[in-house]
Amino acid sequence: MTKKLYIKTYGCQMNVYDTERMVDVMAPEGYQVTDKPDDADLVVLNTCHIREKAAEKVYSDIGRIRQMKEKHNREGRDMVLAVGGCVAQAEGGEIMKRAPAVDMVFGPQTYHRLPDMVNRAITAKAAGRKPRILDTDLSVDEKFDSLSRKQVERKSSAFLTVQEGCDKFCTYCVVPYTRGAEFSRSVEDVMNDARRLAEAGVVEVTLLGQNVNAYHGLTVSGEEWSLARLIRELAKDPGFRRIRYTTSHPADMSEDLIRVHAEVEECMPYLHLPVQAGSDRILKAMNRHHTAESYRRIIEELRRARPDIALSGDFIVGFPGETDAEFGETMHLVRDIGYAQAYSFKYSARPGTPAAVMDDQVPEDVKAARLAELQAELSRQQVAFNENTVGRVMPVLLERRGKETGQLVGRSPYMQAVHVTLPNKEDVAALFGQIVDVKILAAGPHSLKGEVVGPAQAGQPAA
Ligand code: 5AD
Ligand code: SF4
Repeated sequence: MTKKLYIKTYGCQMNVYDTERMVDVMAPEGYQVTDKPDDADLVVLNTCHIREKAAEKVYSDIGRIRQMKEKHNREGRDMVLAVGGCVAQAEGGEIMKRAPAVDMVFGPQTYHRLPDMVNRAITAKAAGRKPRILDTDLSVDEKFDSLSRKQVERKSSAFLTVQEGCDKFCTYCVVPYTRGAEFSRSVEDVMNDARRLAEAGVVEVTLLGQNVNAYHGLTVSGEEWSLARLIRELAKDPGFRRIRYTTSHPADMSEDLIRVHAEVEECMPYLHLPVQAGSDRILKAMNRHHTAESYRRIIEELRRARPDIALSGDFIVGFPGETDAEFGETMHLVRDIGYAQAYSFKYSARPGTPAAVMDDQVPEDVKAARLAELQAELSRQQVAFNENTVGRVMPVLLERRGKETGQLVGRSPYMQAVHVTLPNKEDVAALFGQIVDVKILAAGPHSLKGEVVGPAQAGQPAA
């Protein structure tokens, strides 16, 4: 009998990838995805712990699901409620205590054991016992081993996790604690997964890792490959027309990787390279292992290698001790660099991290004012970047259907969402999943509108 699975994904692309793999491991158990938690036999919250707000949201969602669960029980049905991901890793025991409606808690490195955990929960319930399943083991190898054989969906763009965890220990960040130590998958495993994606018709692959450019996987013969080497090899597969990678750390931006942007056509001219702050004193207190100057130099080299490269970044305002003048250095850096897109956050004290107990925590209203100032500048830059593409013809990978009939939505090389409307149905079917030349007609802050002006260049057969 088919059962229904609802997964809510919070936070970063690592979680998006993990959610996809959870769907894969539950499919052979008869679980089909639903977008209605109310219908589900199994509800999984794949959580994020990076900032306080993200973690709080989980508890309010648990409350909502609990009510659905109680309704199910009254109707004589049952629902298993599972909390996975980084909040589960960081506060598993506490979730169990605070939210008795939760049947199981599992960390980001254990979801390959999900079928077993779910079966144990169902068995316990059938026997009239309350399941208390908690699995927050942090060793990674087994997870990837047991996941890489699973089937891939027919899609034109896919994520491929090559690296996970982090050893950088930025003083504000929970990732080294929730995702564990830095781990690179072996070259063989990565290449096998890549081949399966290419065979399934994937034309754009995004290599994922918390510190993806620190990748240093081993080959069978014990040779170490860098991310640059991996990209060069993947580009040889004629199936992959576009290669992206995220997220990178400035300290691991090697000369070779910069050269890849100049030499490998498939490597897209877009890079997410977080800098966090523009003041060297703050960067040091953050334990970032780079300075504002070294970051500027990397950007210069990247632009020399690939003049049209579009940049994205992450910023934190109001790190403990940050003065107005130091925040001014962040604004200065942002104006100098010029971003196509960016993410910016108020510093959020995370339990267990060194910065949470630093003196001089910045008051909320100061953080809010700095964030507003920074975001105004970043969105001005984003609008300018988008407007600059009006009138140009760009290759766009049409990867999903839009809200309106006849509409397809894709990505430009610079990660901009591009909407095109096709007058007849056959074109919609024929161009879905393809890379086509699009002339940009209009730009908004978050997306572009265009018209198809060229034939499809490659891609998967029409869906
Ligand atoms: N407070 C605010 N922002 C944070 N980030 C990570 N930890 C914190 C924190 N404690 C931001 C950083 C990082 C992004 C994923 O989230 O900018 O690059
Ligand atoms: Fe967190 Fe820093 Fe590691 Fe990024 S590099 S995951 S911000 S500790």
